[in-house]
Amino acid sequence: MFAKSFVIGYFQSMAEAQKGHTVVLGVAGGIACYKAVELVRLLVRDGFSVQVLMTREAMEFVTPLTFQTLSGHPVATEIFSLTQESEIGHINLADQAEVFVIAPATANIIGKIAAGIADDLLTTVVMATRAPVLIAPSMNVHMYGNPILQENIRKLKRLGYNFMEPAEGYLACGYEGKGRLPEPEEIVEQVRGLLKKKDLAGEKLLITAGPNHEAIDPVRYLTSRSSGKMGYALARAGVRRGAEVTLISGPTSLPPPAGTRLVRVKTAAEMREAVMDAFPQSTAVVMAAAVADYSPERFIPRKLKKGEKPIQLHLKPNPDILKELGAKKNGQILVGFAAETEELVANAKKKLREKNLDLIVANDVTAEGSGFEGDTNVATILDRKGNVQPLPLMTKEELADRIYNHLLALKNEQ
Ligand code: PMT
Repeated sequence: MFAKSFVIGYFQSMAEAQKGHTVVLGVAGGIACYKAVELVRLLVRDGFSVQVLMTREAMEFVTPLTFQTLSGHPVATEIFSLTQESEIGHINLADQAEVFVIAPATANIIGKIAAGIADDLLTTVVMATRAPVLIAPSMNVHMYGNPILQENIRKLKRLGYNFMEPAEGYLACGYEGKGRLPEPEEIVEQVRGLLKKKDLAGEKLLITAGPNHEAIDPVRYLTSRSSGKMGYALARAGVRRGAEVTLISGPTSLPPPAGTRLVRVKTAAEMREAVMDAFPQSTAVVMAAAVADYSPERFIPRKLKKGEKPIQLHLKPNPDILKELGAKKNGQILVGFAAETEELVANAKKKLREKNLDLIVANDVTAEGSGFEGDTNVATILDRKGNVQPLPLMTKEELADRIYNHLLALKNEQ
């Protein structure tokens, strides 16, 4: 019951946040056009107003009616159509766009834009728009690797056009490699990022996420219930707001957040090493990882055999990474999390003080909708000045933004 009503609420609040934002989607002719259909569905679900325009080649793959039905707006296909020009208008489309997305973008379309050719509706509108342009290429692996295309992409990037890397995998042409259209969810994420205020520009965030695996023998390990969702939400929100993000992640099943430098680790010792490496270059650290407090005293090199008698496992304490950072920080803002099951505020205050932190985000991991595994959290933010801010249930994405607002406020007072 909780989960269902929350999911509805989540999309409602997402839709509320994007209300009124217009995305113009240019669809060029490639087999990945079918994924553009899903992209429109997701954008509309999130509250964007979507205006689709299609090249003649795109209409060979999907009909305009499909896009019109999903977007709820007429689809523009012709530049010299008197009816379309009076109903939609190519300059009107260019002006309305708050983000202009081209997905899928073919080698041909990218080449024309790079050469300044505007000989159809899509290339004309992209030439006329002042909105940020996001290009999501999709094509055969060898076409993508072609130096002419790569030169065109470099030129457009220099001119401020935003590109997404195609995904790797099986391609419709039968080849395997780089050339698949990025997943529609990832394109939506990039669109949100382009709309967001870049108030973290210049910040170099070091974020940790997920659990650790501390091996007992070759087949067993000690771990926690952390899924990594909180840390990954922080990474995505940081990128959206313009920060450079290094994400040090314990083992998770989550897709890598776009635009981050992802360092994968397993144990607390590996996490410590990666954190210490990146720390001197960082301006702020957010430790959302559930770092393992203990590891087995010794690794048993062969699989421990099942027996009838109880056995004892001896554990040794792991180093406290955050405490070590607190002792050596040099201008960086340090944000910790406190996973508590009792005395939430008192325990969090103690950790804030003992680890020399600037902020601590305390979550009662036994409360409904809070803590491990889910998409939501219920937290209280405490800072070094003694402020205590209890927050209601919200998505981990929203909490990430609240944490950054607090971090920026502290930074501005420094
Ligand atoms: O990953 P999810 O499923 O989304 O769940 C999110 C979460 C519950 C893991 C997250 O919100 C959270 O609370 N993370 C911190 C968990 C934790 O280890 O809390 P702690 O109270 O034991 O540690 C306090 C702080 O010290 C934490 O920032 C922790 O990263 C850090 N720490 C802890 C132990 C250690 N050896 N080194 C550390 O740096």
